[in-house]
Amino acid sequence: MGKIRAVITGIHAWVPEYRLTNLELSKMVDTSDEWIMQRVGIKERRILKGEGLGTSDIAEHAVRGLLEKTGTSPDEVDLLICATITPDMAFPATANIISDKVGIKNAFSFDLGAACSGFLFALQTAAAYVSTGKFKKVVVVGADKMSSITDYTDRTTCTLFGDAAGAVLLEPTREDYGIMDYIFHVDGSGRKYLHMKAGGSAKPPSHETVDAREHFVYQEGQSVFKFAVVNMADVAVEIMVRNKLKSEDIAWLVPHQANLRIIDATGRRMGLSPEKIMINIENYGNTTAATIPLCLWEYEKKLKKGDKLILAAFGGGFTWGSVYLKWGYDPVT
Ligand code: UT7
Repeated sequence: MGKIRAVITGIHAWVPEYRLTNLELSKMVDTSDEWIMQRVGIKERRILKGEGLGTSDIAEHAVRGLLEKTGTSPDEVDLLICATITPDMAFPATANIISDKVGIKNAFSFDLGAACSGFLFALQTAAAYVSTGKFKKVVVVGADKMSSITDYTDRTTCTLFGDAAGAVLLEPTREDYGIMDYIFHVDGSGRKYLHMKAGGSAKPPSHETVDAREHFVYQEGQSVFKFAVVNMADVAVEIMVRNKLKSEDIAWLVPHQANLRIIDATGRRMGLSPEKIMINIENYGNTTAATIPLCLWEYEKKLKKGDKLILAAFGGGFTWGSVYLKWGYDPVT
């Protein structure tokens, strides 16, 4: 009997209705559709509108849809992990709020914060629980309401981000499918290039921090770009080599969607033709922990059982990593 692996048995995602276009942004700050398309590759992003709505409200739709789609009762879920950097509140965990909203009562749940690598870190964490044999149904949701920490007066960041959530169901299998390998890295010294200055324990919120606009994403874009473009490609190639995978063996690269130029560079380093790369940055921008499950959801109908996928991400922390998985089901027709 093979060892117990975790396999994705369902996926669902949700994005808010409101589309923030490049045209609208160009009326808010000094930018243009041409600059954003050339330098980043984004046309529009979805924004959650509405008083008092947070990340859990986006994630709730994704998780509820996932449970319905997979015929899973909330009572069956053993564990829910929410990857996010925009929790509803500092505590309790957004994962607990999501569980409450969708009626998950027999699980424990927690948040995991690894910025743009959050979904990958959470996926592998969940897989480790599943491989113990004690956890039969585990939900991993990557969700961020990036609009809540985006400064819409700063043209260097406000064009980049959007709101979304994507969720997967993980179950055990003894077949040769599911999560096969992962490589993760962090370099905390990279925090100086990408962080939120205030609002945490080191610099709690005050009138001064609000006036200084310190509750938003701070990013030194070029520096982050240089690290991202090298490390995301390196870690994707590293996992190919370790698993003796040639480019022709790989059905899909599922990259974090921060910048089309970073995605293209990663695909090229892996020797992949462009049609093997999942891309939807144009429609949603960078949704942080949600980009990878949002891609998988949009491409779900093209995925076949046994397809070999490489998932790769780079983000704040710095955090970066890759996951190699064999897709576990054919499209439902
Ligand atoms: O997901 C988390 C990890 N994050 C990333 O992976 C993001 C990595 N970084 C990037 O994707 C890119 O660095 C950005 C998209 C953020 C910026 O692109 P860039 O090609 O690195 O631009 P830049 O920062 O070097 O700026 C080039 C010029 C500057 O003007 P000057 O100094 O040359 O006159 C900027 O002020 O573009 C200017 N600029 C803009 N112009 C029009 C910056 N933002 C804008 C804008 N519209 N929105």
